[in-house]
Amino acid sequence: SASSFQHACTLDSDRSDEDNADINWDDLGFGLVPTDYMYVMKCSRDDTFSYGELNRYGNIELSPSSGVLNYGQALFEGLKAYRKGDGCGFLLFRPEENARRMQMGAKRMCMPSPSVDLFVNAVKQTVLANKRWVPPQGKGSLYLRPLLMGSGPVLGLAPAPEYMFLVYASPVGTYFKEGLAPIHLVIEDEIHRATPGGTGGVKTITNYAPVLKAQVQAKAKGFTDVLFLDSTQKRYLEEASSCNLFIIKDNVISTPLTRGTILAGITRKSIMEIARDYGYQVEERLVSVEDLIDADEVFCTGTAVVVAPVGSITYQGKRYAYKTGVETVSQQLYNALTAIQMGLVEDKKGWTVEI
Ligand code: COI
Repeated sequence: SASSFQHACTLDSDRSDEDNADINWDDLGFGLVPTDYMYVMKCSRDDTFSYGELNRYGNIELSPSSGVLNYGQALFEGLKAYRKGDGCGFLLFRPEENARRMQMGAKRMCMPSPSVDLFVNAVKQTVLANKRWVPPQGKGSLYLRPLLMGSGPVLGLAPAPEYMFLVYASPVGTYFKEGLAPIHLVIEDEIHRATPGGTGGVKTITNYAPVLKAQVQAKAKGFTDVLFLDSTQKRYLEEASSCNLFIIKDNVISTPLTRGTILAGITRKSIMEIARDYGYQVEERLVSVEDLIDADEVFCTGTAVVVAPVGSITYQGKRYAYKTGVETVSQQLYNALTAIQMGLVEDKKGWTVEI
């Protein structure tokens, strides 16, 4: 069984458990299901990451004065592995994009970061070591969560002297409790997610806890999630707390342009490309609240969220409804994207990486 595998085992395609994971695959949401192994790699401030190992999944030890705990010096990533239809082998979706985004974020946060190869290799090893936790096809995916943090001690504000890169995994189903049904968003005009010159455009851990207050308030009122506005004019849409936003008007698809305050999502970028392939006009531009109110269809994209149809948006107490259902553009784009991610169609774009 998996529990008989020792710490820091080497990669061997057959080393994972024969046992099935003790889990009801029909019940997956987006909650943590602890798995068997995590990948850990360390390096000092002036060095580069070069070698890591698989450890049993579990708590990690951190200095109370670590950069991450005291000053939030850290980034995270998210990507998914799908089980292929024949039951053997797995597909990752554009993992090099996550690696490159982590490198960009690391520059902003004054951290060393793993090379693209090291990052992708770490993710692959984490999938293989936890392969019994990859859901059967159609039931979900194995979500991989790479972290990069200042693990060494600091007291005065400065980059930490040591860094830890870690990848853990959890089987997941749909992100929102609505499942694949439309979500309902509320526009938040007091709490802001990002400001010009800040870190909204990179995946720092510090972009997320500050939106919890808005999210908790929205959920208490029955909304699924919050949509944030630009913090200067309070007029242009940025993103939801965990995903990017798209609107459709007369078959033109628009998404807010990334100007440093919006996360450049990999699903966002992939959906723009797929939509263009389908012949839609796709625009990255400023999208105002008026544009949103006037839209025919609205949807969100993200790794965790995939493509989520938006049934309504509430702004200053007024609710605006949008087209949903099987005839929508978002459904068409969802089908096209997930077919590639799950290996149901030939991957003409070379987006998937087989393990
Ligand atoms: C993802 O979509 O993978 C994210 O990182 C968003 C997170 C809030 C779940």
